[in-house]
Amino acid sequence: MSDAPMVTIAVPKGRVLKSLVSRLAAAGVDTAPLLADDRTLVREDPASGTRFLLLKPDDVPTYVEYGAADLGIVGRDVLLERDYDLLAPVDLGIGRCKMCVAGLANDRPPEDHPRPLRVATKFTRIAGRHYRAQGREVELIYVQGSVELAPITGLADVIVDLVETGETLRQNGLDVFEDICEISSVLIANRASLKLERAAIQPLMQALGAAS
Ligand code: PRP
Repeated sequence: MSDAPMVTIAVPKGRVLKSLVSRLAAAGVDTAPLLADDRTLVREDPASGTRFLLLKPDDVPTYVEYGAADLGIVGRDVLLERDYDLLAPVDLGIGRCKMCVAGLANDRPPEDHPRPLRVATKFTRIAGRHYRAQGREVELIYVQGSVELAPITGLADVIVDLVETGETLRQNGLDVFEDICEISSVLIANRASLKLERAAIQPLMQALGAAS
C-alpha cells in the first residue's frame, strides 16, 4: 500500500449498495470487504486505500459534513429534506426512483376536497414545498416508514413517498396520483477533505462519477 491517506466513504446500507458495488469495482476498488456478510460497520480495502462506513442513508451527509467521512453516497431525497454544508453533489445515476403522491387506487381525493388533505410522509419538507407550489393547504403527518399503511388505515388521505418498482404500492392497493421529482444517488464530498487531500480523493470521485 502507498503512503497516501485512506479515503473514507460513507455508504448507505440497503438496496443502493448493490448498484454501488459495481460502480466501485469499475473504479478499481475491491468490494469484497464491503460485501462481507458480517456486522462490522467499518470495512477497508487497504490496497486501494479506501475505508467504508456503513450508515443509515439519512446519516450519510452528517458524517461527510463534519469530516468523519471524506466522501458519501446518498439519495438526493435526503439532501432535499435538510440543509447541509457540502460540495455540490455529483449525480451517480444509480438508485433511480421517483418521489410521488400516492393513495388508495379507488379513493383519489378530489381537487376541491372539503378540508386540508392529510398527507403522511417521512419527507415533510419535499411534500410541504410541493403543495405550497400548488397553493394547496395540507396537514403533514410525519411517519418514519411503512407509510403505505396511512391511507389504508385512514391516518391520511394520501402519502408522499419514494417509488422505485411500484411493487410496494401495488401490493397494498395504492396508485401513484402525481409525480413530484426524480431521485437518484449522488456523490457528496467534505469541503476541507477535497482541499487538503485532493490528490487522493479527486481520482476516486472522477472514477465513481464516470464509471457506468
Ligand atoms: C421504500 C419506499 C417504499 C418502497 C418503494 O422503502 O418508502 O416503501 O421503498 O419501492 P418499490 O416501488 O420498489 O416497491 P424502503 O424499502 O427503502 O424502506 P423504508 O420503509 O424503511 O423506507
